[in-house]
Amino acid sequence: MRCLAIMNQKGGVGKTTTTINLSHALAEQGYKVVVIDLDPQSHLGLGMGFNATAKEGLDTIFFNAAALDDVVLPVEDRLGLNKLSLVVAGERLGEVEAGLKGGAERGWLVKNAISESEQCQKSDFVLMDCPPSAGLLGMNALFAADELLIPVSSDFLSLHGASRMVGIIDYIDESMKQKSKKWFVITRYHGRRKLSQEVKEKLMEYFKSEVLATPVRESVALAESPSYGQSIFDYQPKSNGAEDYRQLAEDLLYERVM
Ligand SMILES: Nc1ncnc2c1ncn2[C@@H]1O[C@H](COP(=O)(O)OP(=O)(O)OP(=O)(O)O)[C@@H](O)[C@H]1O
Ligand SMILES: [Mg+2]
Repeated sequence: MRCLAIMNQKGGVGKTTTTINLSHALAEQGYKVVVIDLDPQSHLGLGMGFNATAKEGLDTIFFNAAALDDVVLPVEDRLGLNKLSLVVAGERLGEVEAGLKGGAERGWLVKNAISESEQCQKSDFVLMDCPPSAGLLGMNALFAADELLIPVSSDFLSLHGASRMVGIIDYIDESMKQKSKKWFVITRYHGRRKLSQEVKEKLMEYFKSEVLATPVRESVALAESPSYGQSIFDYQPKSNGAEDYRQLAEDLLYERVM
């Protein structure tokens, strides 16, 4: 099982869009995938068609010491493959950052929950959608993940965000005496825009062998699909967005970089 955190403390770079569509792409290719929402905004559940705040989710792990398997929801897909499941954030997840009693072990709750979950252990991928912050939830994701997927949208501030993110990861790695495997994915890419080209070139310069081969193009359908609670494969399976996320899934499977 590969456990990935989709992470960037910068907001709006495409973390949730990537989690939704990459998980569907992997499931369509036959892989069993569990997605977990670590963001109290609950956008992952909403984008996947669930009334996320009405359901129990990851919050119960923190507050009721519940098991992940008790809150895993099956996700229907257009092909009826039944390969995908979801853990929503739950309405109390926001309280986690606000201050939970306890010691250092609270940073390990998600990792432990995943290790003890039969559904997660039996799947090929666990993908965690992270909040745009580096608090306790982000820390849980960093400790739980074997690999980090960092979306970088094609604008100037995003590059700055990416290097900050790497600074945080390096700091944690150093103190934990570990080395996280990182992947960058370029999002909201405009092939003909100079700025997009520049962001791509800079990323390749700084993080050579870690930039996944397929930039995800800017696409109206990708922006529209969450409002229907659908992935791009259900909403517009022949669109550029669907093609890009299919390719990106293969990049991840075969470790294809630019
Ligand atoms: N390739 C794309 N083309 C067009 N719009 C996109 C694309 N990727 C993401 N978006 C849009 O950009 C916005 C931010 O995307 P998303 O919610 O995935 O980012 P995020 O990093 O999860 O944000 P947050 O930090 O708030 O969790 C959304 O409105 C989304 O629909
Ligand atoms: Mg998000």
